[in-house]
Amino acid sequence: MPRITVNVDGSSYTDDVQPRTLLVQYLREQLGKVGTVVGCDTSNCGACTVHMDGHSVKSCSVLAVQADGHDVTTVEGLARDGQLHPMQEAFHDNHALQCGFCTPGMIMQALDLLADNPEPDDEQVREGLEGNLCRCTGYQNIVNAVQDAAQRMQPGAGPPMEQAQETSTRTHVAGGQ
Ligand code: FES
Ligand code: FES
Repeated sequence: MPRITVNVDGSSYTDDVQPRTLLVQYLREQLGKVGTVVGCDTSNCGACTVHMDGHSVKSCSVLAVQADGHDVTTVEGLARDGQLHPMQEAFHDNHALQCGFCTPGMIMQALDLLADNPEPDDEQVREGLEGNLCRCTGYQNIVNAVQDAAQRMQPGAGPPMEQAQETSTRTHVAGGQ
């Protein structure tokens, strides 16, 4: 069974995984990162979106072994010291969710979008989120939230949201599915 070491939300984890284990399974079932969710079995919904080395990936489309040696950030790694990330606050304040199932993936994808284009127009937001599906809110509030977050995240608008670099480690040699 392959052994992988992955930095997830600022903490290093070493685990044995099955070669077929998906990254989303590893995050949820071995690390307990259940904020990342599975909304489909066709890689269409985007609910499972996380960042790998700073770029969004659908974690149902990545094998856990492919994350070996990489940095993964989930929606659970965004808040700092009890303070929500500006993107999370913007989703809350703009009522950009109802059931919330799509929200972790939407937030992670929206952050990737703003990293590439800090001042998108509405059309660019919609294009950037086209791989993420929401079945209940309607997309207008989500677009509003991303635009709001873009303002909140402008340089000088608040404290920088750096990745936490905690140094905890965990070795889990008996892991498996
Ligand atoms: Fe990954 Fe739907 S669960 S795209
Ligand atoms: Fe329910 Fe988007 S808020 S799926």
